[in-house]
Amino acid sequence: MAVTGPDVYDGIPKVELHCHVEGTVRPSTVVELARRAGHPLPVDDPRQLYRYDSLDSFLAIFWLVQETLLTRDDWARIAYESLVDGAAHGLRYREMFFTPARHLAAGQDLGEIVAGLTDGIEAAETEVPVRCALVADIDKAYGPAAGLELVDRIGDLLRGGRARRVIGVGADSTELGVDLAAFAPAFAAAGRLGLRRTCHAGEAVGAGPENIRIAIDVLGVERIDHGIAIVEDPALLRRVASEGIPLTVCPTSNVVIANRYASLAEHPLPAMRDAGLLVTINTDDPAMMGLDLGAEYRAVADGCGFTAASLAELAIDGIRSTWLDASEQAALRADFEGVVAGLPVPEA
Ligand code: HPA
Ligand code: ZN
Repeated sequence: MAVTGPDVYDGIPKVELHCHVEGTVRPSTVVELARRAGHPLPVDDPRQLYRYDSLDSFLAIFWLVQETLLTRDDWARIAYESLVDGAAHGLRYREMFFTPARHLAAGQDLGEIVAGLTDGIEAAETEVPVRCALVADIDKAYGPAAGLELVDRIGDLLRGGRARRVIGVGADSTELGVDLAAFAPAFAAAGRLGLRRTCHAGEAVGAGPENIRIAIDVLGVERIDHGIAIVEDPALLRRVASEGIPLTVCPTSNVVIANRYASLAEHPLPAMRDAGLLVTINTDDPAMMGLDLGAEYRAVADGCGFTAASLAELAIDGIRSTWLDASEQAALRADFEGVVAGLPVPEA
């Protein structure tokens, strides 16, 4: 695609629906927090650790980063830096994952974690033109009982007015060998609390489309995170397309983290769009891949061969897939249309 200028993709106002706050921590902040947490990293620069040959090998490093987060101030700092960094690349609104299982098991208080993240979000929102809501992710590696416990504790916070930023529940982490249906009680509890529901499914090498079906039919999710294995089940694909269930796809992550494709040229994103699926573009864990949202749009344009018009549609599809109400979506869309009309993005 013939788009020139380094800032065109940063200039597109964007939403992001699949981004883990712990995967956005600046490498310099990781070093500082690790030292302060009393377990300095085995390398001088964490980027030396950021090479993965599978989802599970990535998770081992992701967990190292998570372990550096000890206090409310740490959570506030990473949320703040994450949003300021995102805004520099055109991020306007994010529904952002945090995955506190490891911290709760180590004795941290969920209320303090949520309060810290909220502090950081509110500080960023006063400084840069970005807004953010939170999605509490169940870490599947900790099992279904811990998942239900997390949702119940979120419920306590909601009832106490202490989780106003938390709008949804998801599930991430390892996929192979996990009985996804066993998380049904946690997702049912989330539904009773009025929380929105999403789930990572069909991501790892070795994972087929079955987890996508389970997430929809057994867990009752409204979105699927990744979901790339759906191309292996044409009937399920047709159904998800006709029901308009969004898939929050992270193309670079699928190459670099899951190692599911050798390059973006092999990624099924264009085929998914052509088949009528509602897909959105996201970074997953940008700081752990040397990535940002503008760069991801550029990579998708170049690597998947999308036209400028398709990229604009993808940005709009992101807005349509948010859990914002119609008036908030309309405001984001007006922002998008106003800015994009002035950008030097030629029609392909
Ligand atoms: N998949 C599973 N677990 C994760 C991911 C992901 O994309 N990112 C952070 N934890
Ligand atoms: Zn993810």
